[in-house]
Amino acid sequence: MVNTRTIDIAPSILSSDFSRLGQEIEAVERGGAAIIHVDVMDGHFVPNITIGLPVVKSISRTTKLPVDAHLMISEPGRYAAQFVAAGAKMVSVHVEADVHLHRTLASIKAAGGEAGVAINPATPIVAVEEALDFADYVLVMSVNPGFGGQQFIPTSLDKVRRLRRMIDERGLNVRIEIDGGIDRTNIAEVVAAGAEIIVAGSAIFGAPDPQVAVRDLREATVEWV
Ligand code: DX5
Ligand code: ZN
Repeated sequence: MVNTRTIDIAPSILSSDFSRLGQEIEAVERGGAAIIHVDVMDGHFVPNITIGLPVVKSISRTTKLPVDAHLMISEPGRYAAQFVAAGAKMVSVHVEADVHLHRTLASIKAAGGEAGVAINPATPIVAVEEALDFADYVLVMSVNPGFGGQQFIPTSLDKVRRLRRMIDERGLNVRIEIDGGIDRTNIAEVVAAGAEIIVAGSAIFGAPDPQVAVRDLREATVEWV
């Protein structure tokens, strides 16, 4: 099964140099990135504040790649469709932050985007079981959301495996994205477990050459795909 999947590398710009954001994005494009991952944090759902709609709008105009807005915000239903309107092709919201998840996912799709549901490390996958029918992808957090550069939580591997099984058994076309602590040493394992969209921040933008870092990550998955 794993062999037939397309593996996409999604650099997280959180660890990039924002003063040269356009060039940083061009570098990862040249390295073969498939998606640009943008972390939106509100200082309420997570203990950090990052960027929002205006930056998503600028990035979407600059890059040909799909922009993936990862909303780590409370009440995401108030904003999700606005991120699609700002140019994000993919928008994910946290299951822990939204009591009206179905409505929010529907609003993303109605606006023309792909709808994702994100899930924290300690949230059981049963929490997204119903939402699988309404989502295009599930974002499995392999660190606690809020900051780049944290260590991968090893139990995330089994979580991805179980989620993969749940999706495949139901014959659903839902992709699995994984986010947090991914680098050259563990990317092959997360791909083997069933993840298809691989987010990496510090492993790419913390490297001397982000273009080379993306290429290295892609090569590190080849033995498994
Ligand atoms: C964390 C963010 C991640 C982060 C990943 O809350 O959702 O996207 O940028 O960074 P690394 O790859 O450094 O763990
Ligand atoms: Zn993220």
